[in-house]
Amino acid sequence: MKQILVTGGTGFIGSHTCVELLEQGYQVIVIDNLCNSNAEVLNRIETITQQSVIFYQADLLDKVAIDAIFTKHDIEAVIHFAGLKAVGESTQIPLTYYHNNLTSTLLLLDVMAKHQVFNLVFSSSATVYGENNPIPYVEHFPLSSTSPYGRTKVMIEQFLQDAFVADSRWNVALLRYFNPVGAHPSGLIGEDPNGVPNNLMPYIAQVAVGKRDKLSVFGGDYPTHDGTGVRDYIHVVDLALGHIKALERLAKQTKTSIEAYNLGAGKGYSVLEVIAAFEKACGQPISYGIESRRAGDIAEFYADASKAKAKLEWQVSMNLDDMCRDAWKWQSENPNGFSEG
Ligand code: NAD
Ligand code: UFG
Repeated sequence: MKQILVTGGTGFIGSHTCVELLEQGYQVIVIDNLCNSNAEVLNRIETITQQSVIFYQADLLDKVAIDAIFTKHDIEAVIHFAGLKAVGESTQIPLTYYHNNLTSTLLLLDVMAKHQVFNLVFSSSATVYGENNPIPYVEHFPLSSTSPYGRTKVMIEQFLQDAFVADSRWNVALLRYFNPVGAHPSGLIGEDPNGVPNNLMPYIAQVAVGKRDKLSVFGGDYPTHDGTGVRDYIHVVDLALGHIKALERLAKQTKTSIEAYNLGAGKGYSVLEVIAAFEKACGQPISYGIESRRAGDIAEFYADASKAKAKLEWQVSMNLDDMCRDAWKWQSENPNGFSEG
């Protein structure tokens, strides 16, 4: 049985990827310290798939614990989701972000090499394109970033490039996600942010369910078709499937490589368009007000997703209405996320 190690596997994208891996016959081992997720997700994954993952509550900074897991299991590949991801928070506690995201990755790579596991799928982000590239973003563009969080992604991509140049046994897919939203169509797993959501879709969902009064639209004066920010939203299940395609490519290619792939729809929607789609999905108006721009935001970006289509044989299958429908099902059926009460 093929054993795939998923770091951060109880998180938003990781949990959806575990479901797809199990459904495609992989055996899944999850490592997560639960700093931004809830162990209840494991029960939900089991309900959806009628299978379970092997779970270790461990911190990736605990090299001894990680090494023991690699000793115990016959791991074929690693999907590395674990990390802190809040852009704003990363400007307040940058060193915590650097330590958590960078040190843990270096330790993980060290343990992988020791155990001769060189297949790696890494969660990168469209944030690595910085603010000066033209749209759509293409994988060969120069990288930069505007936040400590984003710099952890740029740096880890660089670590992996350097590791590959030094040792061509490394076989790596760098997946640059655009804006993952939505939830599993079952309504059993979804995004469960701590406190006030930073991101648009979970904030709208909480307004719709009555947990927040109104949405602040950050900026109505961008040079976009309606003045609000434009992003490339991607259904989290489509994103999860992209990881399986990346794993398949790593397994079947005859020569190792390190390749970056944009995982996006290749189409942008404005904040007002997302609000309108969500209103349609939940059947009620979303209260909002246009406010000043959020520091660090850019007007518009979306992916050139042609490389993933050509090389991974992957493309999105779900549209904005599907994303809003599933986000609403998750939010309305689990108003408190994975917590009870
Ligand atoms: P998430 O916070 O839901 O999941 C990350 C998981 O990693 C959490 O369960 C957390 O508990 C765990 N974790 C963090 N540090 C850890 C450590 N030191 N040891 C063990 N576990 C640890 O986030 P997500 O939205 O699922 O994102 C997954 C990955 O994708 C992250 O690397 C993130 O930066 C990247 N990404 C996310 C987005 C997005 O919008 N959600 C966009 C681009 C890239
Ligand atoms: N927005 C609002 N109000 C909110 C939240 C967001 O108007 O309450 C707007 C933003 O200004 C932006 C759009 O909605 O125009 C999307 O914002 P998100 O916060 O949902 O997403 P971002 O594009 O800012 O950031 C996301 C991830 C980052 C990642 C980046 C690039 O959260 O981790 O995409 O991939 F770095």
